[in-house]
Amino acid sequence: MNADILALRIGLLGLGTVGGGVAEFIQLRSSRLTHLFGCQLQLARVLVREPRKQRSIDLPPELLTTDPGAVLDDPSVAIIVEAMGGEQPALDYMRRALRNGKHLVTANKEVLAKHGPELLALAAQHNVDVYYEASVGGGLPLIGPFKRDLLANQISSVRAIINGTTNYILTRMAEAQVDFAAALREAQALGYAEPDPHNDVSGLDAVYKLAILATLAFHSEVRPDQIYCEGITKLTARDFRFAAEMGYQIKLLAIGHDRAEGIEVRVHPSLVPKAQLLAGVNGVYNAVELDGDLVGRVLLYGRGAGSLPTASAIAGDVIDLARNIRKGISNRTEVTLGPTRRVLPMEDVSTRYYLRLHVADRPGVLADIAAVLGRLQISIAAFIQQEVDAARRSAEIVIVTHRAHEAAIRSALDEFAGLTSVLEVAALLRIEDGS
Ligand SMILES: NC(=O)c1ccc[n+]([C@@H]2O[C@H](COP(=O)([O-])OP(=O)(O)OC[C@H]3O[C@@H](n4cnc5c(N)ncnc54)[C@H](OP(=O)(O)O)[C@@H]3O)[C@@H](O)[C@H]2O)c1
Repeated sequence: MNADILALRIGLLGLGTVGGGVAEFIQLRSSRLTHLFGCQLQLARVLVREPRKQRSIDLPPELLTTDPGAVLDDPSVAIIVEAMGGEQPALDYMRRALRNGKHLVTANKEVLAKHGPELLALAAQHNVDVYYEASVGGGLPLIGPFKRDLLANQISSVRAIINGTTNYILTRMAEAQVDFAAALREAQALGYAEPDPHNDVSGLDAVYKLAILATLAFHSEVRPDQIYCEGITKLTARDFRFAAEMGYQIKLLAIGHDRAEGIEVRVHPSLVPKAQLLAGVNGVYNAVELDGDLVGRVLLYGRGAGSLPTASAIAGDVIDLARNIRKGISNRTEVTLGPTRRVLPMEDVSTRYYLRLHVADRPGVLADIAAVLGRLQISIAAFIQQEVDAARRSAEIVIVTHRAHEAAIRSALDEFAGLTSVLEVAALLRIEDGS
């Protein structure tokens, strides 16, 4: 090897979808970059659970190990790439790697969202770096832009579609007018949804990613447990039909706003006007729209997951680290957090609402509903009444409100529960028009 080329040994934790892509990059594709960045990447050891498992990449069997120490404590390893997933034992392995003076590259949104500031502080203490571009949006560059390119901006808002599984399901519900369960089955058959889809469809995966993005955008730690979360499981084909009639798409949005009173963070299905860019993000694609005071509105769009797109993000981090190591520097693009700010409770949020109600088919019902809304300062922007179901003696109405407080809407739902004229609140969704 050329004496100017530095050999860098990498310890890989996990050899699944992401780890397999990383191993493929290092073994088969990284040599063409060796002369560009002055380092040759070498896979030292790979931690797995089942070494004999059939895999997408064939590695020499002696590279695989079930002993974490063989990777984390190997003095020849400079960089640990964590692609195992889950909170434990991944978190303990990451702490151990940093304490051992190894740089860390991770795709683990759960650990970063819950323990990011702790790991960054531990890394600084040991003069090593933590990179996590792959943790949000797979191959889509998001962490780098927030850490570096957008740093001069005061970011006022982040609105994102950051879960490909749910975006695929919602796209199919809109296109084919099918209910959630049918769209989920289709996504599972195509491999876009896990056999256990809970983390995706409950919104939890998007919560972890929003915690990471909001922390970077607003320079203040936002924890997952501070983020309001509603998943997509209760959405019905009827709501897609009404939304389309009124000019909206339904998307699972992860939303962060920098408000004078504090940081507003929430994940829930949202009606997005069809004319907006986010409404056109379909299938498994992800997009993050942000507003900065200098840069204006920016949209980052791309494949949010997958073996090679995610390996692309990890490989970019590894190469950046390799350059630093060659130059003998670290903490070059450290994450800077200011004083911890208040995260607003959901009751303090104000937005527009879509309400679908089943009501009794008799005179005075609309007056009852309007009286409740009026008393709570909720003003009606649009109203649709569907044909009466004669057999059930009920009618379906959809109300779209102007901007109102979440606390007021919740009080309205409580009051509706006490009205004999309101048979059921079939749906309550929020409208996000970007204001
Ligand atoms: N999949 C994506 O497109 C994607 C995109 C962005 C980020 N991510 C993140 O990347 C990480 C990995 O995801 P993935 O989809 O690649 O998962 P995966 O396919 O399930 O792979 C996990 C790998 O980790 C190994 N592993 C898990 N627990 C272990 C343990 N306790 N000890 C030793 N090895 C262990 C498994 O070993 P065995 O193979 O022996 O079972 C497997 O090779 C997660 O944090 C995920 O959120 C994934």
